[in-house]
Amino acid sequence: RRQQAIVVAIDGPSGSGKSSVSRMVAQRLGLAFLDTGAMYRAATWWCLEQGVPLTDTEAVAAVVRELPLAVGVDPAGPTVHVGGTDVGEAIRTTAISSAVSAVATNLEVRAELGRLQREAIAAERVPQSFSHGRGIVAEGRDITTVIAPDADVRILLTASEEARLARRAKEVHGSADAEAVQATRDQVLRRDKDDSTVSTFHVAADGVVTVDSSDLDLEQTVQAVLDVVAQVTGRT
Ligand code: DC
Repeated sequence: RRQQAIVVAIDGPSGSGKSSVSRMVAQRLGLAFLDTGAMYRAATWWCLEQGVPLTDTEAVAAVVRELPLAVGVDPAGPTVHVGGTDVGEAIRTTAISSAVSAVATNLEVRAELGRLQREAIAAERVPQSFSHGRGIVAEGRDITTVIAPDADVRILLTASEEARLARRAKEVHGSADAEAVQATRDQVLRRDKDDSTVSTFHVAADGVVTVDSSDLDLEQTVQAVLDVVAQVTGRT
């Protein structure tokens, strides 16, 4: 007998380990994986490519409405293409990281990308999709609250500021020494501050389970999330 498709929504700030954790959870459960931050990054890449000033909210919204975006949701190798170009690496540069909040705080952009995200999630509930309708893990800032408030499992992945900065520093600079942490601090904190003007991802909404990863390594965090999924859905 086929199991019911499940939707797992995971939100959290930068450096919480959200992306790696969500991807691994999806892989272990045989579910699809959607990184919604990658969609905001791709939209930003496209605006810069088109020479649109990011402060021009109307122009940005107009360009994003025509965004030729294709996301691949296989957790073993998630992909992002814009107009046929593989932008998987280009969207991870510091230039995009510093610019993305300007696009992600544009409410018309959020409406448009939110629509695409809801479609992608709905597609994984039906058979014949990537994971044969088993479901999806979707991660971002507003998935538990705005995009999929009806998800079967809703998790807020948090970590202390110290732990988050150390992780980001390691990701970006390859080390978490004092200098690398300092270099990351301003960018990470400013971005979270900007982003939190449009989404609430520092406090768990009603019915959202908090998983604090401050003292957990990657594998332990994955396990903690899998435990929550098992408790809520009985799925292991
Ligand atoms: O998780 P990330 O760093 O790849 O996210 C990129 C940006 O997009 C970040 O500034 C937060 C924003 N974002 C958002 O506003 N809503 C989402 N659902 C996902 C990301």
